[in-house]
Amino acid sequence: MDRVPAGEPTPVAQPASAPGIRHWDAPSYDRLSDPMTRWGAEVLSRLPLSPGDTVLDAGCGTGRVTEMLLEKMAGGTVVALDAAASMLTEARRRLARFGGRVTYVDADLLDLAPATLGSSAPVDAVFSTATFHWVLDHDRLFHNLARVLRPGGHLVAQCGAEGNIARLIEAVRATGVERAGAWLYASPDDTRRRLEASGFTDIDVWTHPEPTPIDPAELETYLETVCLRTHVLAMDPDERRAFLTAVADSLGEPVIDYLRLNIVARRG
Ligand SMILES: C[S@@+](CC[C@H](N)C(=O)[O-])C[C@H]1O[C@@H](n2cnc3c(N)ncnc32)[C@H](O)[C@@H]1O
Repeated sequence: MDRVPAGEPTPVAQPASAPGIRHWDAPSYDRLSDPMTRWGAEVLSRLPLSPGDTVLDAGCGTGRVTEMLLEKMAGGTVVALDAAASMLTEARRRLARFGGRVTYVDADLLDLAPATLGSSAPVDAVFSTATFHWVLDHDRLFHNLARVLRPGGHLVAQCGAEGNIARLIEAVRATGVERAGAWLYASPDDTRRRLEASGFTDIDVWTHPEPTPIDPAELETYLETVCLRTHVLAMDPDERRAFLTAVADSLGEPVIDYLRLNIVARRG
């Protein structure tokens, strides 16, 4: 079963798109996303590429990992897709030097269809890092990705797994706040089953821990920008500051207990 932290609404009770899907502090994320960029480089090393490929970066954020993808591709093109306009603005700035090799698409992955990508569909590969756990319906997500991927094309991705940030979730609970977050931390078994149901083959799904120390001086901003982004969306500034300080105190050692879900598959 998918893990939904106690005190959080279940995915079925949520609208298909996470609340606050378009609200990201992109400049802060860009500054604080060294861990995701490091993981992204590792995930990228698993992506087979051929000259002239078109790759969809599903949830490109500010483009730090997309930039590495473009450098590795040496000639192919990338569709940089994200649902947050703020993230796409940063991505456009960072990736400007690649000119026409990048197409930017402002879209929700849960609404993705071949028409969303225009003449870029079908793509040769789908690549995604640190994004799928923000998408609350993985059946629909994988179905949509399969529709835009050519037969035989690769899906290579990583996101949070069942059990991700359990220690941080405990720290939130210790503050007495039960305000909704919005993640889907899926298990390898559920993910494999969903991929098969969407027509993927050659499936490999596994988890690995990534305990990540955060600079104590940046911890509250990191939590506000990344892990607890949706928790604080509706809080006023004073409430937000008090909450983040309480969570940081409760966490103690400034280490986030990330557990990553790795996905490698091909469209049948
Ligand atoms: C943590 S960031 C990861 C960005 C980048 N891939 C990286 O590794 O740094 C997650 C990104 O997923 C995007 N995102 C979340 N849900 C989405 C959805 N349903 N459709 C499209 N993008 C989504 C967010 O806007 C955000 O830019």
